[in-house]
Amino acid sequence: MRVAIVGQGYVGVTGAVVLARQGHHVTGIEREPARLAALEAGRAPVSEPGLQEELTLARETGRLAFAADLAHTHLRQPFDVVLITVGTPPGEAGAADLSQVVAALTEVAALLPPPTVVLKSTVPPGSSARLLQAHPQLRDRYAYNPEFLNQGSALDDWTSPSRTVVGLWSPGALPVLRRLYGELTCPWVVTTPDTAEMIKYAGNTFLAMKISFANEVARLCAAPDLDIDKVMQGVGLDPRIGHAFLQPGLGFGDSCLPKDTAALAHWAAGRGVETPLLDATIAVNRAQPGLVRDVLREELGEQLADCEIAVLGARYEPWSDDMRAAPSRVLVPRLVAEARGVRVWDPAVEPERLRRLFPGARPCADLSAAVQGARAAVVLTEWPETIEADWSLLAARMAPPAVVVDGKNCLLPERLAGLPLTYRGVGNRLPDRADAPAGAPRPAPSA
Ligand SMILES: NC(=O)c1ccc[n+]([C@@H]2O[C@H](COP(=O)([O-])OP(=O)(O)OC[C@H]3O[C@@H](n4cnc5c(N)ncnc54)[C@H](O)[C@@H]3O)[C@@H](O)[C@H]2O)c1
Repeated sequence: MRVAIVGQGYVGVTGAVVLARQGHHVTGIEREPARLAALEAGRAPVSEPGLQEELTLARETGRLAFAADLAHTHLRQPFDVVLITVGTPPGEAGAADLSQVVAALTEVAALLPPPTVVLKSTVPPGSSARLLQAHPQLRDRYAYNPEFLNQGSALDDWTSPSRTVVGLWSPGALPVLRRLYGELTCPWVVTTPDTAEMIKYAGNTFLAMKISFANEVARLCAAPDLDIDKVMQGVGLDPRIGHAFLQPGLGFGDSCLPKDTAALAHWAAGRGVETPLLDATIAVNRAQPGLVRDVLREELGEQLADCEIAVLGARYEPWSDDMRAAPSRVLVPRLVAEARGVRVWDPAVEPERLRRLFPGARPCADLSAAVQGARAAVVLTEWPETIEADWSLLAARMAPPAVVVDGKNCLLPERLAGLPLTYRGVGNRLPDRADAPAGAPRPAPSA
């Protein structure tokens, strides 16, 4: 099939390389010149495991191209189907900003001959119906097909999703999607566009709720004899619950959960529907970065204003360069306002970018330099370099009381025990006992 994918961000470029590798002729449409230039030069515009290699292979098939202009490309050789994967960032008061979707749909609606149209961007319930009022001719060949991929495993998630959700008003688009996704053996949920839109929001809200729940349990596990890791290990082993998204930390920091929970809350408020669970999920999350300051105040007291603080990691996750909602964005400016000096180290973020992201903080090229003379180090990313560092050497470089605040609960307490530092995780964590029977591993860092 001839496929266009409008918007070459995390979702669009993943779809483009996978569909081209599966045998379709794909054109990725991207309006941002720098991103388009990277794609045309064969460079992945976003960081995602395996994406660069898959992009190279997909281009070698001769079935993957990129362009800026959808209409012009369609005119030369019409597309059978156009997928829309443009951004839906947070707008005013948390509402989803659908301006990119509106613009893309308007472009697609003008195409002749008309292709099948598949919207994959996350939009609030009722959006497809509302947006298509301006383009009624699209209704019979329109599908809303939300994307569920996770950054970090985007290629696998696209290739082997847990389900395919399709919302349509008439069955016209369904056989096209079945041909497009021919290799998918997962369950298909075929429903109305409104329902499909709600499925996406409800799913993300549930994941967000699990993270906030884990963070609330961590607050309960503050006493010396409580071990949050073992609590979550024991809870997550229940197959009805599972370990995913049950890792305490400084809040959800990928780009989707904050904006999607806010958008659903805004949507509900507009309809006069109370959502106490969703509101609590958001409130717990908002409060979570404040934990770092609370711990620093407890450990350093009035000295905080006179301290150098090292921030170890700016990314939310090592495997993703998406920093749109990383907790560091909130936390570092707060620390800059309160401490004498803040240094930031992240092995994957250029010093110049760190400088732009965090005015007033000093980028550091390596871990040792970042902690030198710092009274506290705040771990925000589970970088292997940080986890596997010789903390006896790092502690010796720090100034007393050498407080280490582990915002990802990724350091191993047993490796820090006995060192001249004060370790504080999210919730109390105990060193693993060597004589303890082997069970499930410590919970993996959250996605
Ligand atoms: N990132 C994720 O992990 C993820 C997962 C599931 C769903 N989603 C949803 O998928 C959608 C896309 O997310 P993303 O993270 O890939 O977004 P993104 O912001 O990374 O990428 C969107 C791209 O679309 C381009 N664009 C916008 N309008 C365009 C137009 N008219 N023509 C050509 N290009 C255009 C932008 O320049 C940008 O490169 C969002 O609604 C998001 O909520 C994202």
